[in-house]
Amino acid sequence: MARTRSLIVTSEAFPLAKSGGLGDAVTGMASALSVAGTDVGILMPAYRGVLDRVVGLRHIAHLAGMPGGEATLVGALCPESGLPVYLLCNNALYDRENLYLDENGESYADNAVRYAALAHAAVRVATGLPNIRRPDILHAQDWHAGLVPLLVRAAGLRYVKTVFTVHNLAFQGVFPLSCARQLGVPDSYCTEDGIRFFDQLNFLKAGLRYADCITTVSKTYAREILTPEFGCGLDPLLRARAADLMAIPNGIDDTLWNPAHDRYLGHLSYSARNLTKKTRAKAALQKAFGLHVDQNAPLLAMGSRLTHQKMADVAAQALPDALQRHPTLQVAIIGRGDYQYERALEALASRYPGRCAVRIGYDESTAHRLHAGADMLLHGSRFEPFGLTPLYAMRYGTIPIGSRVGGLADTIIDPGGQEADRVMLAATGVLFDGDRAQDMSLAIDRALRLYRQPAVWCSMQRNGMACEFSWRAAVRPYLALYDSLVSATPRGQVPAPLIRPLPVPAYTRRANNGISVRTAY
Ligand code: ADP
Ligand code: GLC
Repeated sequence: MARTRSLIVTSEAFPLAKSGGLGDAVTGMASALSVAGTDVGILMPAYRGVLDRVVGLRHIAHLAGMPGGEATLVGALCPESGLPVYLLCNNALYDRENLYLDENGESYADNAVRYAALAHAAVRVATGLPNIRRPDILHAQDWHAGLVPLLVRAAGLRYVKTVFTVHNLAFQGVFPLSCARQLGVPDSYCTEDGIRFFDQLNFLKAGLRYADCITTVSKTYAREILTPEFGCGLDPLLRARAADLMAIPNGIDDTLWNPAHDRYLGHLSYSARNLTKKTRAKAALQKAFGLHVDQNAPLLAMGSRLTHQKMADVAAQALPDALQRHPTLQVAIIGRGDYQYERALEALASRYPGRCAVRIGYDESTAHRLHAGADMLLHGSRFEPFGLTPLYAMRYGTIPIGSRVGGLADTIIDPGGQEADRVMLAATGVLFDGDRAQDMSLAIDRALRLYRQPAVWCSMQRNGMACEFSWRAAVRPYLALYDSLVSATPRGQVPAPLIRPLPVPAYTRRANNGISVRTAY
């Protein structure tokens, strides 16, 4: 049987472009698909510097009549991942300092055009271009690629199936309706039944509305997004498409994130067999962050976007109290995000020199050393589609303290609650409910109590390190999904309409209260 050909359309793929978990997840998924025999390629923008980081560049096509002007498509190989990448080149759109945000932290004004161009490029490939094989599956990731299923439908391509993977429903790519023509979106799709959303045009809705199959990255999140609380205004559409919605939990790259062979750790590497060596990584982290070097001080880390989603505001309220009540506790933070949370955490660090240190910024190597050197990772989330970071922590014998939502509820084992600490011998972390400072403080207290019981703590560390979260296992449902899509419709057969036209959904008549429609990470 011919190998299934999949083209993954994405705004990020580690290490070429990454602002968070999307980049990691895309590369991990693509590599595992490739190892499992899928003919997979990644289509993404040629952001600044990306062409210098790939090898075997070859011209594929000039693409005229694209949003944002003429573009060029080139093929190459990413040396680190070994994956074929197809890079959409248009310097006016992509040769910029950051992926999504200008120097003031605002979304680039033309993000709609930048990502519409990406979707059009995907459809040109699916239509047929010289020097690149036509895919069976276009696999679109998050809002940036949301127009792909719509444009495939509009172009009447019958032989290509579309999968749309939601990594984060809160980022939707919402733009004025008046952009539609400039983006090459036909008027007939700009209706409530199409991609109109509160009188705007919504890229994520396009993906949800027109993809053959929708996937999201954990089981609990797949259930949560069907509710108004987590549905970000799109839950009515998701409920209407529930039969085509699948949860396919992410995996992690357990080669890159491996304490025994981590290139960022060098001689500080360790494994579950020699956990005492983790103390060297802890001392190095304390030193690097300017904390007192003290093996007995419990070291709590945070490494994430400092945003409302990640409860950075709650952490800024809970941590002063925790530092006050636990005189030996140390805190190390690397992150960047909302200005006020960054400042609040920096202010905390200046109040507790030697005990609390904050690095505002983004640095891959520091993230690895943080996961290795810390005793526990604080990862509060108001919602969490998957949550890679706590899994990285577990792999490094660092105990996650996470919110009981989304992927965290599925991946962190905490049988505790009101039970005796002894049951935590079977745990891998500490979960908490709620988003008040008090909720987080109590969870930190609980983790610190467990930390003082070496038998329990050590057992939790080993449990976490032994967990199987690799992409090798995680990719299987994607393989089955691809197979079912490719075999369901013999090439050339017209697919039946996917979903019944929806009645005008109730949410279009409500005010846009509290619904996050941010356009960029
Ligand atoms: P999300 O994708 O919602 O940000 P995940 O936990 O799934 O959350 O993935 C976050 C990824 O981004 C991880 O690889 C994490 O190490 C990385 N990351 C987040 N913030 C930083 C930072 N400031 N520096 C380095 N890496 C970071
Ligand atoms: C998103 C989510 C995160 C998930 C990541 C990869 O950024 O916020 O929970 O782990 O995508 O799927």
